Amino acid sequence: MRILVTGGTGYIGSHTCVQLLERGDEVIIVDNLSNSKATVVDSIEKITGKRPVFYEADILDKNALDSIFAAHKPEAVIHFAGLKAVGESVSKPLEYYHNNITGTLMLLDVMRAHNCFKIVFSSSATVYGTPASVPIREDFPTGGTTNPYGTTKLYLERILSDLYVSDKRWSVVLLRYFNPIGAHESGLIGDNPNGIPNNLMPYVTRVAKGVLPELAVYGNDYPTHDGTGVRDFIHVEDLAAGHIAVLGHMEDVGVQVYNLGTGVGYSVLDLVNAFEKATGIKVPYRIAERRAGDIAECWSDPSKAQNELGWKATHTLEDMCRSAWNFEKAN
Ligand code: NAD
Ligand code: WQD
Repeated sequence: MRILVTGGTGYIGSHTCVQLLERGDEVIIVDNLSNSKATVVDSIEKITGKRPVFYEADILDKNALDSIFAAHKPEAVIHFAGLKAVGESVSKPLEYYHNNITGTLMLLDVMRAHNCFKIVFSSSATVYGTPASVPIREDFPTGGTTNPYGTTKLYLERILSDLYVSDKRWSVVLLRYFNPIGAHESGLIGDNPNGIPNNLMPYVTRVAKGVLPELAVYGNDYPTHDGTGVRDFIHVEDLAAGHIAVLGHMEDVGVQVYNLGTGVGYSVLDLVNAFEKATGIKVPYRIAERRAGDIAECWSDPSKAQNELGWKATHTLEDMCRSAWNFEKAN
């Protein structure tokens, strides 16, 4: 297939591009490099032996998108591009709504003009807000997001669903990711946030490297097995594979929603222990106050994706830790 990947030089996008190229798809990346580097294209080529077409372009730039669609006539779009820092979104709501929502509206408009009606959208478990129970199923209520980032995902799910109601030519797949961590086994691509990481795994790898002194564990008084927060950590390679599985199920699907998670919850301290075991490196930590907006537990019921797409996460928490460390060391 000819697939246009927005945000394709980013963390999840780059892993997905690798798998698309490996199975013989034509890949056209559109990324404005606001949170990634052009050298990722070289890394993708090094891994796969194939160079994706790359445009440094903004999805807010309708003329640029229009020329790219005219030149390549993509059959489907995987839409990763977006700003994703939860804390930053609270201080910059306009930037987040503009980039994520207006950007997607531009993309959809250009897709329609070029008769491209298949879209896979990167949504997030954050749309469930504080779930009434775990594991979380796709039919749980959404809403109650606690930051503008999460709200952009909620609104975009709604916008994409409305679009299908208006025009049945659309096939929309909303993928709700849980907590992607880990990196490609080559160590060439991975999660490389600028500055001090907000997310757990990149923080852990930087403590392990000695760049940061210790990990602050946000709260040990949650109602979980060891008091620390529990999440559904999923290897980014499994997550990427979920997108590949979806592409085989995009004919006249209407609007479909899938959780992409493992169905297993691990705590912050489980992850620290698994990391130490997988790498042999101690991760000094201290218990700190709870972080505002955090919930105790968030993990998925991934059986819908398993039953309908034949997709299942296979990597262990240790695989995730080992690959994340492998990438950190190389960078
Ligand atoms: P990322 O920041 O590594 O990748 C996003 C890419 O989009 C970046 O390369 C960035 O430069 C690009 N981009 C941003 N705005 C753009 C614009 N206006 N035009 C063109 N390119 C633009 O993030 P990621 O972790 O790979 O996430 C990919 C998607 O998955 C995002 O939509 C994110 O919200 C979503 N998601 C991520 C997680 C996670 O924990 N990483 C969880 C759930 C959902
Ligand atoms: C995981 C656990 C923290 C850092 C976020 C977004 C969500 C989605 C995925 C995009 C929590 C604890 C963390 C640290 C810690 N992204 N922690 N010390 O918050 O589950 O989800 O990323 O859609 O929308 O909210 O992920 O990695 O930040 O935290 O103790 O230095 O690790 O409290 O329990 P989170 P995370």
